[in-house]
Formats: sequence, C-alpha cells, structure tokens
Amino acid sequence: MKTIITYGTFDLFHIGHVNLLSRAKALGDRLIVAVSTDEFNLQKGKTTLVPFEHRAAVVASCRYVDQVIAEVSWEQKEKDIRQFGVDVFVIGDDWQGKFDDLKAFCEVLYLPRTRNISSSSIKQAMQVLAQLDKELR
Ligand code: CTP
Repeated sequence: MKTIITYGTFDLFHIGHVNLLSRAKALGDRLIVAVSTDEFNLQKGKTTLVPFEHRAAVVASCRYVDQVIAEVSWEQKEKDIRQFGVDVFVIGDDWQGKFDDLKAFCEVLYLPRTRNISSSSIKQAMQVLAQLDKELR
C-alpha cells in the first residue's frame, strides 16, 4: 500500500484543487489530505470564506481523497509522515523547494499548478462583481 499526503487550505474548492488531488491519488493507493484549520490560517496571515469544518467536509467528499486530517502547525509534517506511514509528500509547485527537508523521511514531489485559477482570484472576482452590482443599483 502506497500512501500519499498533501496539505492545503482548499477554500472555495476549485478545478486547481481537483487536478492536484487527482494527480496525487494517481501516485499511490491512499491519499491523505491535511486541511489547514482556521486558527492555523490566521497564523499564516490567511483568511477563508469557508470555515474549516466545511472545507474539510468538501475535501472529504472528493472521490480521490481517502482521509482528511487537520493541519494545525508547520511542524506536524514529520510526525504525520511517521504516524501514517507516508511514502510520498506532494504539493503544488508554488511551494517548490520549500519542503525538501522532508526528503529525509519520504519522497517529496512538487506538482505543476493549474494555470489561471486560485481561491484568491475567485475572491477578487467576487469583489469586482459585488462592486459592479453596487454601481448599477
Ligand atoms: N493548487 C494547484 N493549482 C491551483 C491552485 C492550487 O495545484 N491553481 C494546489 C496548491 O499548489 C496546493 C493545493 O492546491 O498544493 C491547495 O492550495 P490552496 O492554497 O488551498 O489553493 P489556492 O487556490 O492556491 O489558494 P490561495 O489563492 O488562497 O493561495
């Protein structure tokens, strides 16, 4: 059994997330996704529109995902890799090189991001639409 793990916020679940999770699952048999909690996102300076419980439920409902755990700190990765017997750590290449220290414990892969989509760009588009709506009233 080959176990894959990935980490992320997964706010406003979109096609970039689907592509990342489908490619991650194709690398092995079991995909574990660590979803950042609201508290951890605050530490990262990130705010989400969708609360942790909902983001975790949405990710868990994705057919490529076998298990969801909470990401509560930067340091937990080494412990998770040992606890879940992880063979491959994957993440988008916006993090290229950032987790190379985990190569001491498992394979580390950076997958190319899907172009032209992100949670941030969806939020920006929503703001533009809300502004237009205001101006047209
Ligand atoms: N991801 C991806 N392609 C995208 C967007 C995200 O492959 N277009 C990947 C990221 O590289 C990461 C995972 O999906 O491995 C979760 O990313 P997350 O930060 O939750 O998504 P973003 O859309 O990048 O969010 P934000 O705009 O808030 O940074």
